[in-house]
Amino acid sequence: MTYRLTREHEELRAVVRELADERIAPRAGQIDESREFPWDLKELLAKQDLMGTAFPEEYGGTGLDGISQAILVEEIARADATTSLIPIVQKLGALPILLAGSDDQKRRYFPRLASGEWLIAFGLTEAAAGSDVANNRMRARLDGDCYRLTGSKRFITHGSIANLLTIFALTDPAAGGRKGMSAFIVETDTPGFSAPRVEHKMGIRGSPTAELNFDEVQVPVENRLGDEGEGFKIAMETLDRSRLAIASQAVGISQGALDVALAYAADRQQFGQRIVDFQGIGFMLADMASRTEAARQLTYAAYAAVDDNVADLPYWTSAAKLIAGDTAMAVTTDAVQVLGGYGYITEYPVERMMRDAKITQLYEGTQEIQRMVIARQLLQRAGIPSQAGK
Ligand code: CAA
Repeated sequence: MTYRLTREHEELRAVVRELADERIAPRAGQIDESREFPWDLKELLAKQDLMGTAFPEEYGGTGLDGISQAILVEEIARADATTSLIPIVQKLGALPILLAGSDDQKRRYFPRLASGEWLIAFGLTEAAAGSDVANNRMRARLDGDCYRLTGSKRFITHGSIANLLTIFALTDPAAGGRKGMSAFIVETDTPGFSAPRVEHKMGIRGSPTAELNFDEVQVPVENRLGDEGEGFKIAMETLDRSRLAIASQAVGISQGALDVALAYAADRQQFGQRIVDFQGIGFMLADMASRTEAARQLTYAAYAAVDDNVADLPYWTSAAKLIAGDTAMAVTTDAVQVLGGYGYITEYPVERMMRDAKITQLYEGTQEIQRMVIARQLLQRAGIPSQAGK
């Protein structure tokens, strides 16, 4: 498991950074204030062929390696966390199909997702089952050549704007969530589906987080992913990989806040000198930079672990998400401190970045869930049996 950034990676970073600086960063404040999904930026990413980086070339994607996908998310998140969710969720929603889908399912759906014509969302969380996935209640009842899905989902990123969903529901309630859950591809124009509510959030405000309702929604049997009962495993294997995109988002947010804080500190004069020349500020910037770099390099190492499909993959991806999320929260908080009163008002972007950073400690598994995954991996490495779920 080794990684090294190539000239192609650096070229990709330069191209995406220019695009993000010129087209995305100037929109970030408006997106936050209006709480509207940036359809124009979705189109921009589609036109630049940046919606299909996670999809194999044979299905219309550009099939970039993990570190390239990390750089894409990082550079967009450096400008605007909301917009970075566009490629993040496109991959998250598609991962169950990538991992467990048939060739036919990939052929039917991937080209429209890779081109950006369609958006997809990942529907796992329910009101009473966030961290505890096995406690999910939504039902899928087999009825002839289709399943009838009934129940609701909550906190579904892009759920109200997606054309397609990957949905997890119980096909065998008696077996419970771990053994009785299955995964489905659902087209959102199917009768009985609705998205009645969008949440008001602290950050990532342009990214709709929706409640979804399913009232006897008919899903053809050929839209089931894998076999009945494989849903829990598909969800876990998806999160093992998708969490890394959140680590990259967190690294991007940290870098964005650091860049603003450094520029401000090098310009702002107090007591007859630049504030960057006060040791208290210079040391703070040094810590922010070092922590951001550590999070970035751990995230790249974890991407290499995913590309190599290593046995302890959950260890790497949860560790990267844990460190990067906590770094984003600490670095953005320090950036507000460096800017003082100016950091607390919307004239500068760091207050938005601090609000956006918080979500990286919550979604795709809270930091407590990451620690739980890492601790179980430690036991496994040591050959000590886990008593989880017993
Ligand atoms: N890969 C494959 N199989 C796995 C697995 C993995 N990573 N983790 C567990 N399993 C298997 C186990 O081997 C076990 O199988 P057997 O019964 O055959 O032995 C089975 O699944 C049950 O495992 P556990 O007993 O360990 O499961 P658990 O109920 O204790 O839960 C958990 C494990 C890791 C805590 C899990 O519930 C979890 O990940 N929770 C967090 C959920 C989460 O991250 N939600 C995010 C929603 S998406 C989102 O936020 C996106 C967004 O908005 C952008």
